[in-house]
Amino acid sequence: MASVHELVHDAVMSRRMPPWQPDACCNHYRFDRSLSDAECETLVGWIDRTRYIIGFDFQPGVRAMVHHVIVFAIDEAKIGELERRDGSDGRPGWDCFGEGSELQGDKRYVGGWQPGVLARVLPDGIGRELPAHRRHIGIAVLWTR
Ligand code: HEM
Repeated sequence: MASVHELVHDAVMSRRMPPWQPDACCNHYRFDRSLSDAECETLVGWIDRTRYIIGFDFQPGVRAMVHHVIVFAIDEAKIGELERRDGSDGRPGWDCFGEGSELQGDKRYVGGWQPGVLARVLPDGIGRELPAHRRHIGIAVLWTR
């Protein structure tokens, strides 16, 4: 499965996105939404760069069952293995123990939530780093019955 990074890179560089069919040869149209070469480079540059998460809002679907949520950034090298395990027992995700267990030591903490925590934005100038090689977010949820 392609990463969001690869999808956006491919869609933009092949000019499939944003959709705009008129050829620039013959006329200028209002509301032209195509990107210039420079804009393509800028956009692709953004997705290749480290990003910072500056706020959180968690909305569990089954609020009464969620004890806590821990969010971490996963190294791209782990993604293939984790995607193979995802749903392999017929249920979404996979069972694990202790904040992602086998991802311990490799994961990078991003944020978390427990009942009672409100949506929040970090103070000005503060962000949780999401390096370019960690585009995937892992979510460890402790469920209660
Ligand atoms: C820079 C802006 C945009 C980016 C980076 C972007 C990116 C993407 C990506 C990655 C996909 C899925 C993969 C693909 O089909 O290639 C997609 C699908 C789609 N996008 Fe965009 N998009 C952008 C702007 C737009 C705009 C402005 C529209 C509508 C006016 C649009 C309409 C669609 C539609 C309808 C699909 C589904 C295509 C299908 O399933 O066949 N996109 N876009």
